[in-house]
Amino acid sequence: MDGETHVNGTGDVPVDGDDLGTAPDGSRRGPSRKTVLKAALAAGVAVPVAMMGAPALARTSAGTGTVPELTPSCDDGDDPTPPQMEGPYFKPNSPRRTNLIQPGAQGVRLTVTGYVFGLRCKPLGNVLLDFWQADNRGAYDNVGYRYRGHQFTNAQGAFTLTTIFPGLYPGRTRHLHVKLQAPGRPILTTQLYFPNEPRNNTDPIFDARLLMNVRDVGGAKEAEFDFVLNVPQ
Ligand SMILES: [Fe+2]
Repeated sequence: MDGETHVNGTGDVPVDGDDLGTAPDGSRRGPSRKTVLKAALAAGVAVPVAMMGAPALARTSAGTGTVPELTPSCDDGDDPTPPQMEGPYFKPNSPRRTNLIQPGAQGVRLTVTGYVFGLRCKPLGNVLLDFWQADNRGAYDNVGYRYRGHQFTNAQGAFTLTTIFPGLYPGRTRHLHVKLQAPGRPILTTQLYFPNEPRNNTDPIFDARLLMNVRDVGGAKEAEFDFVLNVPQ
């Protein structure tokens, strides 16, 4: 249906393996290299060379009473975004769109923004992101393509997804599914999570490294997450 899509129609290429680095230790403090890079991207200025070796700081806090592992910090080249299981509800050939909200949709509006970086924290353009999620009642559309869509990062490595806050379904905490693929690279299949969700404590698949930063803005939610792909730079 959509020949330009990397994921769609190619089947499920093995994800980046389980040997993808380990979480950094929890003691790092300092300015976030990614934050500086993002600010530089936004401002169109050069990144200070001094920042290139600076330690990174966790962006997320779980809000679950436990200290989360650090979000991949992109500072030492061995900690890409961790993979997660695909689950039973992925469908290839999703429409290309950044807005998954269709007329008559029910639910709280959710915007997810972020960047996709390679191993040296440089932004990656033209990266495929293929999102799928449950509706506000916790149901996946396995017939059509509601709450399914793919897009590509822009030249600055940025993406924006407009959707709804996904509903809960039995056995899982609240989450989004996504596959990412930089041009010519393997697919990363993973999931994104929301802080302050009671089921984060009981869902065995949950990984605090995949927590988004989420804030309430009016009656909507705005989430942020930056991916790090296993792409040499
Ligand atoms: Fe799911």
